[in-house]
Amino acid sequence: MSVTNPVSALIQPLGEMPPESVVFGSTDAMHALRERLAKIAGANVPVLIQGESGTGKDIIARMIHVSSPWKTGPWVKVNCPAIPGTLLESELFGYEKGAFTGAYGSKPGRVEMAHRGTLFLDEISELDMALQSKLLQLLQDGQFCRIGAQEDKRVEVRVVCATNRKLEEEIINGTFRSDLFYRINVVNLHIPALRERSSDIPQLVSYFIEHYNRRFNGRAPMPSAELMKALMRYHWPGNIRELENLMKRYVILGSEDSISGDLRPHEPDLFSADIPVDGQVSLKKITRQAVRELERKIILKVLQHHHWNRKQAAKALNISYRALLYKIRDAGLPSNRTPRSGAHEDAQAAVNETAAAD
Ligand SMILES: Nc1ncnc2c1ncn2[C@@H]1O[C@H](COP(=O)(O)OP(=O)(O)OP(=O)(O)O)[C@@H](O)[C@H]1O
Ligand SMILES: [Mg+2]
Repeated sequence: MSVTNPVSALIQPLGEMPPESVVFGSTDAMHALRERLAKIAGANVPVLIQGESGTGKDIIARMIHVSSPWKTGPWVKVNCPAIPGTLLESELFGYEKGAFTGAYGSKPGRVEMAHRGTLFLDEISELDMALQSKLLQLLQDGQFCRIGAQEDKRVEVRVVCATNRKLEEEIINGTFRSDLFYRINVVNLHIPALRERSSDIPQLVSYFIEHYNRRFNGRAPMPSAELMKALMRYHWPGNIRELENLMKRYVILGSEDSISGDLRPHEPDLFSADIPVDGQVSLKKITRQAVRELERKIILKVLQHHHWNRKQAAKALNISYRALLYKIRDAGLPSNRTPRSGAHEDAQAAVNETAAAD
């Protein structure tokens, strides 16, 4: 039996997207990705998008849809981890009346809703083995069966999957079917991490600042050269999502200090036992580094607790105000926080201490 076109109310909106020039930037890896996307968009083959969390897999999936011949058809996204395991099968494949307790009527699943459009399965590694088999059948012969139905249905659907996991490892662990992997991986698009395309950061920064200035009626200027350098050096574990959130905060709070403390270069965790011991290990050096790191963390915590009032923080830490200023500078913590309560107090404390020291 063939599926008729889905009702338009079931079609999900695509949402706002940044311009292509911003999405792809100017690095070689992103240009190669753009070319690959253009080549495969028109062919009805499954696509697997891989990349760390926050790299833009969702955006690339939507770009595939809008660049495809099915762009006027439905765009149906399924966020696999968001739907409890027991509901996922009926959500994906639908059910017939009486298929299980509570099935008072029949309901189409999202696979059917995506007929003549794109089905985007986000975080595909979350599908259990039984659902993986059903999906394999869909990809092999375009057929599936609603829960409780007597016969299969046929759909024409472009399947795009995404994951931030290494599916090859899941196959070795026995949690992902290798035959399904080969089916969904006909074309693979890998999105590089933001730290691998740091030359795109200035363009992304200016896009997000303009975007959020418009949204929040803000007037935040472009960051100083110094801040931009720090943004380009940072290792971005949360990728573009983290950059976007940071820029949103910058626009709302309106000062560089409100974000510069978050941009410390990545350092190995000196408190873990993972310190490499194959070469020479200088216990003295490691201990000194660990003490400095611990000191930095404590100072930051106390400063935050006292709303960056350095006089109160110095008192709480039982060190002099001058010693605290020195340590703040030494630890690379933001030094001159913009207008806040206590600024006047700080200035007065500095004057007093300088006078006392002279
Ligand atoms: N190239 C880009 N240009 C502009 N904004 C982007 C770009 N890539 C991602 N973003 C923005 O970053 C945020 C995260 O992107 P997205 O949701 O596509 O990442 P993801 O890889 O799907 O993450 P996750 O694995 O956590 O689901 C979104 O708000 C998106 O708009
Ligand atoms: Mg996503």
